[in-house]
Amino acid sequence: MDYVSLIRDIPNFPKEGIIFKDITPLLANGPALAAAVDDMAAPFKDKNIDLVVGIESRGFIFGPGVARELGCGFAPVRKAGKLPYHTESLTYDLEYGTDTLEIHVDAVVADHRILIVDDLLATGGTAAAAGELIAKIGGIVSGFSFVIELDFLEGREKLGSIPISTLIHY
Ligand code: PRP
Ligand code: MG
Repeated sequence: MDYVSLIRDIPNFPKEGIIFKDITPLLANGPALAAAVDDMAAPFKDKNIDLVVGIESRGFIFGPGVARELGCGFAPVRKAGKLPYHTESLTYDLEYGTDTLEIHVDAVVADHRILIVDDLLATGGTAAAAGELIAKIGGIVSGFSFVIELDFLEGREKLGSIPISTLIHY
């Protein structure tokens, strides 16, 4: 599948000097969306994944499809203040300022194998924080699956030796 032709460059969004990778043309294309979800799940089919965790908000687009493909459930990592039950939370550094992610304390069963799904791996701060949250509540982070990776930002350096799958590299 030619995913690259379905990713649109938006210059100067959300800030001057940033070229935003817009995935909405890919989402709008039925065969491409199905192929993307299948290809995100495929490397983890024989990895005994127990649960997919998606990161708000664009990780929610792909996560449940990947979970269905792997025959497991889904749990959300959300931005601060959105989850209703008891949460574990983690604040991490952004280029300017900080951000906080949360997960329900009972989102994972102890020692279950977790696949983290998001649309984009950039600096790796978000994915690393999600991984730390899962470890804090007793899960084993067993893989990361992304649609896009911005190789020049070296985000995978923050994710250690855990297997990472990406459909498109820039
Ligand atoms: C974007 C993207 C990833 C994250 C990657 O999310 O969807 O989640 O940034 O960046 P990083 O690797 O440098 O941490 P964003 O926080 O913009 O929110 P959204 O998904 O709600 O649009
Ligand atoms: Mg995001």
